[in-house]
Amino acid sequence: MTRFAFAAFAPLIVCVFAFAAEKEPSPSEKGYKALTQTAFIPAFWTQQAVPNVWKQWGVAEKPADYDAAVLERYGLHAAPYPNDGLPMGLRKASRVLNVGVGIDCMLCHAGSILGKSYVGLGNSTLDVQALFEEMAKADGLSGKLPFTFSNVRGTTEAGGFGVYLLGFRNPDLTLRSPRKELGLRDDQCEDVPAWWLMKKKKTIYHTGATDSRSVRTLMQFMMHPFTTPKDFEKHEPAFRDIQQYLVNLEPPKYPFPIDKDKAANGETLFKNNCAKCHGTYGEKWTYPNKVIALDEIGTDPTRHKGIDIAYGNEYSASWFGKEKIGWFVNGLPLRATDGYQAPPLDGIWATAPYFHNASVPTLDGVLNSKARPKLYTRSYKTDEADYDKVKVGWKVTEVRDPPKLTPPELRKIYDTTKPGRGNAGHIYGDDFTDEQRARVIEYLKTL
Ligand code: HEC
Ligand code: HEC
Repeated sequence: MTRFAFAAFAPLIVCVFAFAAEKEPSPSEKGYKALTQTAFIPAFWTQQAVPNVWKQWGVAEKPADYDAAVLERYGLHAAPYPNDGLPMGLRKASRVLNVGVGIDCMLCHAGSILGKSYVGLGNSTLDVQALFEEMAKADGLSGKLPFTFSNVRGTTEAGGFGVYLLGFRNPDLTLRSPRKELGLRDDQCEDVPAWWLMKKKKTIYHTGATDSRSVRTLMQFMMHPFTTPKDFEKHEPAFRDIQQYLVNLEPPKYPFPIDKDKAANGETLFKNNCAKCHGTYGEKWTYPNKVIALDEIGTDPTRHKGIDIAYGNEYSASWFGKEKIGWFVNGLPLRATDGYQAPPLDGIWATAPYFHNASVPTLDGVLNSKARPKLYTRSYKTDEADYDKVKVGWKVTEVRDPPKLTPPELRKIYDTTKPGRGNAGHIYGDDFTDEQRARVIEYLKTL
């Protein structure tokens, strides 16, 4: 380096050191960095897949605003952090001989609402099935998937991923062949819980099956066929930081006016009818962390039955179940519960659609089982025009007869008669008058 170049850079170097000396990043800050900047698994596709994928869309030419068209086609969202020009959820990663594009946690765990992207908001617009099929075809492959990745847009078969991939691993996470059948199901239509609820939860997943302090549970995502047991060991500290980031996240605030008197009135109704399961809010919050039995809650049982004891036993006996955290310290296995966990409702205004299978598009429907749409579609956009401020959630269009569509258009129809997609149960708001229901909804906006 010439003396001139060094002189030019010197102030910058001084600045960097001064900053570093000032403050060591917290585990949560390190976690955010690891989450948004590390490729934990190799790439699935070449770097040409994104620019070429429009050829799979049945259009004559490349759409003019191509970046926006890609976001809309797959339900992806702009990244609020440096991401090599890719949307959230896609990530530059290594391939065997070069660099390609893969996925990360934000594919499902980041979304947008009212035009703003948030890490930790479940992605309610994603079409992961179309993404995997079409990106593979763009690379000249068949695009055939080993099982269904998504049945309806905004939901994924994430549980199926875990069951499928664990079948290829021995307890020490070395590869096993052929795959052990652990009860794979691909009709669970799972909604993604918001990460900011982690701070209150003692147990996680819709059934409350895992200790929320488990770090290794977050690492199931790494079971790509090319990762080795050493890779899991190497990245465990990063996932410990990621978990610190998750438990420090806060929900976004409702951005429109709230009627204070109406909300205060709704709070009383909430305390009398809902708090025993969903807890209380404000500075001295409480959260009972209850799992409600299937026959009492009455929501669709498919997800509950979909991940069974064969998987639980295999998981508990493997490296994942051997961590020295939470109940795993005492060698306890994954928990088999009898129902679904009543989640905390912080930031609930932003996390439509509702229930573990995303079957109910608004809070009004959650609180009135008779008013829930049975067959419907929505824009799968997240702007103000798509948001229903009265019912609170997504605006939907009801459809009369099952339409004769083919995928991916068919995945934009939510059909509550299909397996995993039932919208029954949770009738705790049914006896409210419309006025009472509106007050409870006003209160829910404040959480
Ligand atoms: C393909 C989509 C997808 C990807 C990718 C994904 N998740 Fe998830 N995640 C889900 C779904 C769906 C659930 C709910 C599962 C259930 O209980 O049925 C979930 C649940 C969770 C939960 C429990 C939340 C709760 O409150 O119950 C955590 C924590 C979590 N994921 C972390 C991660 C991390 C960290 C990554 C990346 C390393 C990741 N996930 C990647 C879809 C995904
Ligand atoms: C007996 C316990 C219980 C009572 C009482 C109860 N809930 Fe729930 N609630 C649950 C459970 C369990 C779930 C999760 C059901 C599922 O996903 O299948 C749930 C889900 C919800 C959801 C959707 C959460 C999400 O993220 O999708 C909302 C909103 C909600 N309840 C609001 C209320 C309100 C308001 C009341 C009072 C009128 C109430 N609940 C009363 C147990 C209860």
